[in-house]
This record gives sequence, structure tokens and C-alpha cells, in this order.
Amino acid sequence: MRRKLFIKTWGCQMNVYDSDRMAALLARHGYERTDRAEEADLILLNTCHIREKAAEKVYSELGRLRQLRERRRQQGAETLIAVAGCVAQAEGELVFERAPFVDIVVGPQAYHRLPELLARRARALGGVIDTDFAVDRKFDEVSLPEVNGAVSAFLTIQEGCDKFCTFCVVPYTRGAEISRPAAEVLAEARRLVAAGVREITLLGQNVDAWHGEGPDGRSWNLARLIRALAEMPGLARIRYTTSHPLDMDADLVRAHGEVPQLAPFLHLPLQSGSDRVLRAMNRRYTADDYRRLVGELRTVRPDIALSSDFIVGFPGEREEDHEATLRLVEEIGFAQAYSFKFSARPGTPAAAMRQQVPDDVKERRLAELQALLDAQMRAFNAAQVGRTLEVLFERPGRHPGQLVGRSPYMQAVHVSDPELAIGDLASVEITEYHPHSLAGRVVTPH
Ligand code: SAH
Ligand code: SF4
Ligand code: F3S
Repeated sequence: MRRKLFIKTWGCQMNVYDSDRMAALLARHGYERTDRAEEADLILLNTCHIREKAAEKVYSELGRLRQLRERRRQQGAETLIAVAGCVAQAEGELVFERAPFVDIVVGPQAYHRLPELLARRARALGGVIDTDFAVDRKFDEVSLPEVNGAVSAFLTIQEGCDKFCTFCVVPYTRGAEISRPAAEVLAEARRLVAAGVREITLLGQNVDAWHGEGPDGRSWNLARLIRALAEMPGLARIRYTTSHPLDMDADLVRAHGEVPQLAPFLHLPLQSGSDRVLRAMNRRYTADDYRRLVGELRTVRPDIALSSDFIVGFPGEREEDHEATLRLVEEIGFAQAYSFKFSARPGTPAAAMRQQVPDDVKERRLAELQALLDAQMRAFNAAQVGRTLEVLFERPGRHPGQLVGRSPYMQAVHVSDPELAIGDLASVEITEYHPHSLAGRVVTPH
């Protein structure tokens, strides 16, 4: 019997990757993916715990799903509801307390046991839970996601985090840092490329901390892995995210100057421009370290653009700290950024710190920072007009004959050209700038 599976995903790209893998695994057990929750026999929520808002969204979604399940029941159909991801890991049994109608709670390292959990749920009266950390098995048994003609794909190479920034739940929800073996990563990359993928984004909560034994028996770092991927014919572009500034070693910086496939765009979370706040956050770098690192990257790859994450209103953040952040942002210049108000997460050291910053102050600081970052982003996008960028074409555009691709800087680029096909990498002269995209014409096709 074919059953239908609906997945809703929140949080980071690793959750997106995991959702696809869970779908591939469940497909082997008769589940076909649907984008309509109303017709699903199994609803899987892949959740995020990073900020309070993210976690609360899950419970409001569960409230809606409860009604949906009731309506389906009246029509004689049963619906199973599973909570996966970081809320499942962080809250465990508490999920059943807050939402007793949930059938399954499954943590990020137990996905390979989903079929078994479904079978157990069919026999049991109450909900079933699995939040073990059995990382080694997860990647072996959770199969490769369907590529479905995608030009760009994610590939998780590292999971977990040992950094313990004082504000962050990830070390608790994803567990200790582990790297996937190089041979496994290369094999998955080869399968993706054979299926037509031309761009791979290597994923990890601390992706630049990746290390492992290479096929040559030597110890590899991320730079070495990237160089091996760059030798794969057909793979046009390589990205990696998210990097911690501390783990950006000299080899990786050098790779940016030497590996043409490596996109000149790097997400490098800064969080704050104040050394005092960075220390309290346990980030283990100073504003100067960050400045120096960016300088090195720009030396080897002058066209590199940066994206970043910021937290305003960390406990004890004074006006002068906030101003230090604004000044450093002005000095460095970011092409793109995410910024957040500090959210106190249960169990993290920062949640218990004194001198929590009042919400209205956080609000104002966030508005100031975002105004600056938005202006930088607009200026960066507008500055692309007249430049020639490598664009990888991913999908049809809204107008007939038009294709949409991505620049190295993740900008959407619209081009109408009868010679162009999805999957092509072409040099495009940018002629127009719109708030959310660029447009241009092909100069040299590849
Ligand atoms: N591993 C990455 C970030 C993972 S979380 C890194 O080290 O930078 C993504 C972003 O969420 C973080 O960079 C941070 O800016 C933000 N974030 C994490 N915890 C937060 C919290 N408690 N409150 C507000 N923002 C938070
Ligand atoms: Fe969280 Fe810090 Fe680890 Fe990033 S490095 S995942 S912010 S603890
Ligand atoms: Fe969220 Fe977990 Fe990713 S908390 S950001 S889904 S690692």
C-alpha cells in the first residue's frame, strides 16, 4: 500500500539535507512524498531549537495539525505525527507533555531507525521516542536523497559541535563534533555528480573543522577534501558552510586562491565586533583576528564576498560594544548577513548570565545593525551591474525562454538566451539590478 509523507522543515541547511534523506529512507518503506499535509498519512516536522521563536513555531504548527488529524479521522483516515530535529532532541519527553497526540519523537542522530519506530508505534499505545546519539550509523543507513534533476545539492560532511559558544544549543542538540570519512564523502559526491549535480555545498555546523583519513591513508583537512572534489569532472562549483573563524586554517585560505571551482563567497559568522562580548560568548577570536582573516582571504581572492551572522543584546552588551559591532561591519563590508536578537536558551550558560539586555534595547540595536547590513547588501548587489559573473543555471524563469541561475554570491540572475540550458555555467554580464535579483546576458558559454 502506498502511503503519503509530508515533511515540514525549519532551521539550517543540515535539516534540509536530513529531511531529504529521511524521505529517501521512508520511500523504501512505501511512503511517497507530498506537499499537501491534508493528504498525508505521516507528517514529519523537522524542527529547529536555535532561538525561542523557532522552537515555539513547532508547537503552534502542532496545534494546527491536531485539528487536521481530527478532520481526517472523521473521514476514516489515520495520521501519524512525528517530531524530528533539534526540538525533539532538546525537549525529548517534554514534547509528549506539551502535545500528547504526537506519535514519534526522533532526534537528529536516530533517523536511520525511523522505520523501526513506525513499526513500534503501530504496536504501542503511547508515543515512541528515540534521541540516542548513534552518529556513526546514521550516515551509513540513511540513504542518499533523490536528486530529481537538481543542479545544486547539499552534502553533509560534519555534524555536531564542540565549541560551546555560551548562547548556543547546537552542542546539546547535535552532540559532539564528528566528521564523515573522506571516502564516504567522495563517493556521495560522485553519485551526485553522476546524477547531474554541478554544484555541491558541503555542510557542517562547523564545516571547516572537518578532518579525516583520506583515501591515501593521510590525514586530510577541509582544504585537501575540496581539492579532491575539484578534480571531479562535471563538478563546476564548490561551497561550504558554516565555518567558524577559528578553524579557517592557512590551507583553506590558500585553497580560495587556488581552486577555481571554490565559489568566492564565504559565510563567516562574526556575532559581535566587541572583544569583551566575543569573550563572554566563548567565540575564541577577537575582532582583530577576524579582521586579519578577512584580509588574508581578500589577498588570495580579491573578489571574495562575505556573509555573516550577528547577535545583538547578548547579556552584558553595552552601548559601546554595540557601536564596536557597527564600526567593524562598516569597516569589513558584508554582501549578506543574518542578525538576531539574543534569545536565552534553556540550559546554555548565557541564559543564566546577569545583565540580560531589555527587549526594547535589543530591538533598537537590531534595527540599527540591520539598516547598516541592508544598505551594504543593496550596494553590493547594485555594484554587480557592469561586472561579468559566472552563473550556474538552475531553473526556468517566469517568462518563456528565460532561465534563472545563481552568481557566485548566491544572487539570482535572470537571463533569456535560446542557447542556454539548465545545468550550464556561463559568464554573464550583469545589466540590471532589481531588489531581489540581477539580470544580464551571456558573454561566454562554457
Ligand atoms: N555554527 C555556526 C552557527 C550555527 S547557529 C557558527 O558557529 O556560527 C546560526 C546562527 O544563529 C548563529 O551564528 C547565531 O548568530 C545565531 N544564534 C545561535 N544561538 C542564538 C541565540 N541563543 N540567540 C540568538 N541567535 C542565536
Ligand atoms: Fe553554536 Fe558556536 Fe557551535 Fe556555532 S560554533 S554551532 S554558534 S556552539
Ligand atoms: Fe536549528 Fe538544529 Fe540547525 S537548532 S539551526 S536545526 S542544528
